[in-house]
Amino acid sequence: MNDSIRLGVLVSGRGRGTNLQAILDACARGETKAQVVVVISTHPEAGAVERARRHNVEALIIDPKQFAAPEDYERELTQRLRERQVDLVCLAGYMRKLSPLFVDAWRNRILNIHPALLPAFGGQGMYGHHVHEAVIESGAKFSGATVHFVDEEYDHGPIVLQAVVPVFDDDTPDTLAARVLEQEHKLYPQAEGRLHIEGRRVKIKGASPNCPH
Ligand code: GRF
Repeated sequence: MNDSIRLGVLVSGRGRGTNLQAILDACARGETKAQVVVVISTHPEAGAVERARRHNVEALIIDPKQFAAPEDYERELTQRLRERQVDLVCLAGYMRKLSPLFVDAWRNRILNIHPALLPAFGGQGMYGHHVHEAVIESGAKFSGATVHFVDEEYDHGPIVLQAVVPVFDDDTPDTLAARVLEQEHKLYPQAEGRLHIEGRRVKIKGASPNCPH
């Protein structure tokens, strides 16, 4: 019996898709028992679309603007994901807020990766370089990456795994972002590999609140 976790990865805009790439690479190396079965992008020119197709993974474009209401768009998302028997939805550079309806339909089955140590430096407007600028300005000595479940609030759901990186005196948002991104690429596939889904219950094996490295 194939007990691999079936992942559906959501991306928005024209993002790079490097986290998706890290997940695909980890799957190809057999490092995680998860398997990407579909990538759904809001935009045809997203880096993730090209990366998925190169790995023979189905990539769908679903443009929210084609739908009369956000709920219709999300209903379509749910339908496509269910058709492919997706167990776990992974947001990888997906910047749109998901509605309570969608979150409820996929409760404890949506993961996100955030480029800081939540619960600090999260919330509305905290994305991309804004996060790293805020970390540097705060004087924090450490930052990192967080994989968490998605709930109705931005960057707020239960934390699955975190990785820590130092913040150096001469860091710019770009140098810090690069150090964090390196950890994101290790962390996301690890988190997926540790989840075990029984019916609607998700269990995290060997999860520890400490840095896993
Ligand atoms: C990552 O920094 C992630 O933490 C955030 O969006 C960015 C996506 O980057 N949620 P990429 O498209 O995976 O390269």
